[in-house]
This record gives sequence, C-alpha cells and structure tokens, in this order.
Amino acid sequence: MHPLIAHLAAEVAKLKQAGTFKEELVLQSPQDARVRVGGREVVMLTSNNYLGFANHPRVREAQKKAIDRWGAGMASVRFICGTEALHKELEAEIASFFGQQDAILYMSCWNANEGLFAAVLEEGDGLYSDELNHASIIDGVRLCKAKRFRVPHNDMKAFDRLLAEDGASRFRMMMTDGVFSMEGEEADLRALVEICERTGTLLVVDDSHATGVLGRTGRGTAEEQGVFDRIPVTTGTLGKAMGSAAGGFVTGPSALVELLRQRSRPYLFSNSLPPPVAAGSLEAFRMLREDPAPVAKLRENAAYFRKAISEAGFQIPHGTHPIVPVIVGDTAKALAMGRDLFEQGVYVSGFGFPVVPHGQARLRCQVSAAHSHADLDLAVDAFVKVGRKFEAIEEVESRESRVESKNAQPTADS
Ligand SMILES: Cc1ncc(COP(=O)(O)O)c(C=O)c1O
Repeated sequence: MHPLIAHLAAEVAKLKQAGTFKEELVLQSPQDARVRVGGREVVMLTSNNYLGFANHPRVREAQKKAIDRWGAGMASVRFICGTEALHKELEAEIASFFGQQDAILYMSCWNANEGLFAAVLEEGDGLYSDELNHASIIDGVRLCKAKRFRVPHNDMKAFDRLLAEDGASRFRMMMTDGVFSMEGEEADLRALVEICERTGTLLVVDDSHATGVLGRTGRGTAEEQGVFDRIPVTTGTLGKAMGSAAGGFVTGPSALVELLRQRSRPYLFSNSLPPPVAAGSLEAFRMLREDPAPVAKLRENAAYFRKAISEAGFQIPHGTHPIVPVIVGDTAKALAMGRDLFEQGVYVSGFGFPVVPHGQARLRCQVSAAHSHADLDLAVDAFVKVGRKFEAIEEVESRESRVESKNAQPTADS
C-alpha cells in the first residue's frame, strides 16, 4: 500500500474510534416527508426539502418533459455550447423573482460563492465576511486577493468599527448568510443595509436557507425584514426549497453578472446545469409565483413544531425558521439520541464539535411544508421518549397534558 494511502486509512480509523465518522444511510424511496430506510418508514426531519418540492408531481413532470424537449445533459460549459433557452429562461425568472437586472446559474451555490469574490475583487479591495458564514463562502474568500476582514457574528457595532478603521480599501464588499444554518438564525439585514448604504459597501447575501422559506412570498430574509429592494446582490441554491435537485445562482446588477460570465472560474470551467434540473427549478419558481401557499404552510408547520418541542421541555433557540436545533450539550449524547430517534421512526441528524461550539451539540430538526401535523406529532412524541432516557428534558408535564387533551379531542389534521 502506498504510504499516503496507509496514512489515510489510519485517519479514517481514528475518526471511527472517536465516533465522528459520518455514516451515510441509504434511502430506499424518494426524498419526502416520510422516507423508507432499512425497510422501515420514518419521518424525514433533517432535509432541506422545505417546500416539499423534491418529489412534487409538478416538478417531476417538468423534469421529465425537459428531458424529452432538451435532452439529458449539455456535454459543455455554458460559453462553449452549453446554453439552451431553458437556462436563459431560468436566469430571467430568478432575476425577476429577486427584482434584479440579471442572474447567472452555477452547478451549485457552493460554486456560486466560490466563483464570486475572486472574479470581482482585487488586491487593494476589502472583503468583509461574517465569521459564521457557510463553508463555501469561507473557501471563496480564501481564493480572493482582496484584504479579508472577519466580522464577529451578527455584531453590527464591530462591523461598523472595522469599516471605520479601514481607510485603505478601494472597494468594499460585505458577505453574509441570510440565515445561518446551524441555528436557523437570521442575519440582521436591516442593520447591515443601513451600514453598507452609509459606508458605500456592497452587500451580498447568501439566502440559500431562506429562498422559498422566509417572507410572505418566499423571497427570503430581506422580504421577511422589509428590506427586499435594498439588497444589491443575492446568491442562493436551487438544491433546497426551489426544486431541491441542484444548482446555484448569483443575481444582481447586469454589469456584475456579465463580468462573472467572463471571469468566474466555476462558471467558465464546469459543465452547465443539466436541462431537467433547470426545468425542475423553473417550475418551482413558477409554482411560488402562482401561489405562495406552501410558504405559509411551512411557516405554520415550523411554529407548530417549535411550540410543541419547547412545551415538551427541550431547549431551542428563539426564532421562526423551520430549522429547529434541539440543543442537548454533549456530542456523544446528540449522536446517540439521533440513533434512538431513528429507532422511534424519526430521521434527524446530530451535530457536535467542531461544527458547533463545545457543549452546544444538537439535533438539527428541519420542518417541511410536506409534513402533516401527524408527522410532527410523531416526531415530538419520539423526542419526548428519547429525551427522557437521555435526561435531555427539563419538564414534560405540559407536553403530557397536550397529548392527553389531544387524545380526548382528536383534530381533523393528519
Ligand atoms: C448558506 C449556504 N450556502 C451555500 C450552500 C451550498 O449550496 P449547494 O448545495 O447548492 O452547493 C449551502 C448548503 O448547505 C448553504 O447552507
């Protein structure tokens, strides 16, 4: 065995010994509110399928039709021979959804974030980034020659101070997640907009966990906070709420998008989005435009689950987002609880250090519009059982009385 391969095998063994090796469970059914795993049906409480579009009949149909009309794949990057009318249509749809001049598609939001900064900023510019931003932003920042400023998380005073101290940068850009994915916490976009407008800093928001999720019509964190028309540039994914397959985008002023088409490396040197994937997302945007009801259903489900799980005595951060982290403290405990929850029919992932700080290990629940109240009740009941076993509950009386009163008076919801 090559010594490097032997070294890697030892690293894998170490991960397994430490209990941090990530096992992949194999789904035996499409992604949905409930899935089959290991021959059993479980409630899926850990996917980004926020609107339930991953297996929606209209999205599936749009993908099938696109294969017949446009073929299975492009065998090219966009600028050589990989652009079809479908790609242009989806880009126009995204730009219009965000009230922007133009949009550019990537194979993923990872690629969009990776390809943005180095293409538009140079040495002598200043790139500000929230310290809890997604890994794709961190890697994108590393690839850029601009001076880097690490902004303490959601700390507007510190951001303002850093800007005031930076007299040297030619242009300044601030990048933030709209919603931080480990907490379901929103960035303070109102404050960021105010500071960025006042200081001439270009604000970019990665709204991957908010597009189709937050705001009355699903237009994201900025719509939720009433600053929709004041965000100069947005990046996002098509792999979560908006079709759930794959793809990412940057949307903003035409000049920025045009330049990205010329210089952004993941766009220039990687295949264009497969036609059925593009068509599925296009259909998702059309569905939201026609009727934002799934966004309202998602919000209602998130509120329902948040209330039930906190009444059951679990500790969750305050908020409204369908990401609901149940904090249990210890990493080994979170992982063991995840295994027991699976036995109880609930698929939810545990996260511990170094993904989250020491002592804040959690089970990250993600609610979908596809869940029924029965799915969510099943999940909460399983949490109560497992939480008692692991002493992760503060008090359970209110949950018990809720279950008792529900049993006495069954509701119509299922
Ligand atoms: C904030 C954020 N940005 C980017 C991404 C990457 O998106 P994609 O799966 O399209 O590469 C994710 C995915 O988890 C994310 O949460």
